[in-house]
Amino acid sequence: MRNLLYPIGYPFRKRQLLARWEAAGRPNPPPAYFKHDYLKQLAAENPHLTTFVETGTWKADTLYQLRNSFQTLHSVELDFDLFLAAKKRLSRFKHIRLWQGHSPEVLQLILDKPSSPTLFWLDAHYMSGGVSGYGICPILAELEVIFEQCHEEAGHLILIDDARNFIPAGDYPTLAEVEQFVTVHWPSYNVWVQDDMIHCRSQVKQ
Ligand SMILES: C[S@@+](CC[C@H](N)C(=O)[O-])C[C@H]1O[C@@H](n2cnc3c(N)ncnc32)[C@H](O)[C@@H]1O
Repeated sequence: MRNLLYPIGYPFRKRQLLARWEAAGRPNPPPAYFKHDYLKQLAAENPHLTTFVETGTWKADTLYQLRNSFQTLHSVELDFDLFLAAKKRLSRFKHIRLWQGHSPEVLQLILDKPSSPTLFWLDAHYMSGGVSGYGICPILAELEVIFEQCHEEAGHLILIDDARNFIPAGDYPTLAEVEQFVTVHWPSYNVWVQDDMIHCRSQVKQ
C-alpha cells in the first residue's frame, strides 16, 4: 500500500495519523489503522482466503475491522478477562469464534478439521501485566501446529506481526530462525518482511 492516497471518506483522525506516519518516513511500527487496511486489502486481493485465524485477540480491534472480509474468523486469547471482553464485544457476529487458552494448544483444535485457505495473523506474545508462565512468544510452536495440521498446497498466507522484535539476543526467535523454520517445513514458501510484518507465502500461484 505504498503511495496510498488516503480516501477523503476516512475519519479525520485516521487520515491525520496515517499522513503523519508517511511524512515521518514510515517508521516501525506502522499505526494499527495501516495494518487493518493492509489485511483488508489482502483479503480483497485473495478471495480464496476465506478464513482468518488470529493468535492474541487483545481488544479484538483487528477482528472487528476484518469482520466483513472473511466467511469465518477465529481468534485465541490467553488472558481470560480479555477473552471475556472480546466475547462481549463480538457476540452478535456468529461467524466469529473466540477461544481462550495458550495459542499452540488451541490452534490444534481450530485446525483439527481440514481448514479452508486461511490468512493467519500470528500476534500472540506476552504483554506487561498479562498472564505469565507461557513464555514470551509462542511463534515457533504455533507454526509447528500449522505445518503439522495444514497442507502446504492449500495456499495459506501466514503473517507474523511485530517483525522488529525478531532480532538476535531478544526474547523472540530471530528472523533467520523463523525463515529457516518455515522453509524447511514448507519449501515452496518465501519469507520476507514488509511494514513490520513477516510474510510467509507460497510461490505457487493460487
Ligand atoms: C499484541 S496483542 C494482540 C493484538 C491483536 N492481535 C490485534 O491485532 O489487535 C498480544 C496478545 O497476545 C496475548 N497472548 C500472549 N501470550 C499468548 C499465548 N501464549 N496464547 C494466546 N494469547 C497470548 C496477550 O494476552 C495479548 O492480548
